[in-house]
Amino acid sequence: MRMPKGLEHSQDGTHYTRNPSFACFHGNGMIGFIGTEGQRYSYSGPEAAVAEGIWKAASEPVPVAAWADLLERCETGPDAAVGIFEAFLERGLLLKVQTANLNEALGVAGGNTPGPRLRLLVCVTGAVAAVCIAEYLRELWSQLSAQIRVVLTRAATEMVNPAGLSYLLKAPCHVDMFEATGCDGRPPHIYLAEWASCVLVVPATANSIVRIASGTFNDLVSLTVGATPAQTPVIIAPSMNWRMFQSEVLQKSLQVCRENGYWIIEAGYGCEIGAQNAAEGFSVGALGCRHNVLPQLVKQILQWHRGGRARRAVPSIDGGSSVGG
Ligand SMILES: Cc1cc2nc3c(=O)[nH]c(=O)nc-3n(C[C@H](O)[C@H](O)[C@H](O)COP(=O)(O)O)c2cc1C
Repeated sequence: MRMPKGLEHSQDGTHYTRNPSFACFHGNGMIGFIGTEGQRYSYSGPEAAVAEGIWKAASEPVPVAAWADLLERCETGPDAAVGIFEAFLERGLLLKVQTANLNEALGVAGGNTPGPRLRLLVCVTGAVAAVCIAEYLRELWSQLSAQIRVVLTRAATEMVNPAGLSYLLKAPCHVDMFEATGCDGRPPHIYLAEWASCVLVVPATANSIVRIASGTFNDLVSLTVGATPAQTPVIIAPSMNWRMFQSEVLQKSLQVCRENGYWIIEAGYGCEIGAQNAAEGFSVGALGCRHNVLPQLVKQILQWHRGGRARRAVPSIDGGSSVGG
């Protein structure tokens, strides 16, 4: 069997594994792959079985020698298998990785990496965009290598289940301001505000923004934001219906937040899911950044904050737009 192009010159320690930017589906004797950039590839007939075998084998990093062995033993014969393997490499369906930098290659920095880590307190409020919070948390964890704790308002628990988020994060999610589990027996708002090296309110409802701006600290989110030390960056990402967003009370409250030195992620132009038609659905007020952009925004804000632009009027950050309302 000839070695596939690309594999032949690989050194020791080189592995090939699935590119996580691709999803695979199969049925009816066919197999298809769709990439995040819109790439589409499919195989049918005997090729489908080979492609499926390669994709399954690549579910974990496989060293070069083991690939050669697998392709050699392929039922359809090694030549067909080598051809499909080469196509996988060319199309980017497989990634070349060294096990030492596996996380980096797969785009996962991971919250378990050693070194000083950002302690991110994510405050989730009862906007409908909260249903997407798990994706945001995953990106924050993986891109920023952050330790994350979550506080939810009661309304947020109607949108997303705190028990599910606790399992995801392997950390308690806090809702009740009198419940001190995981807070060293201290009042949760004091403990969490001191624990955090950054507080992020995402998504932020009109109600919570007005509460934070007016100092109406009668729930754990507003109370914790209120108790946050002056040097700790607080980032607020509004998300709401466009009429609520344009309301005078909300705009005034956002201005107060800016004057307090809080960072605001500018609301985006988004579409309310389920809107009757696009003309009705698109409006400004949606959560201003997608889940994969948020960590980069946070990183940038932290740099500016450390650069001394804290606690005075600062420009809003425009993160683009996302779906929601
Ligand atoms: C289905 C549904 C969706 C909602 N979506 C939003 C929203 O996107 N943004 C917002 O500001 N309020 C939204 N609200 C209203 C808030 O849930 C409500 O103002 C609540 O009191 C907010 O409480 P909180 O700020 O303590 O989380 C929604 C309410 C419902 C019932």
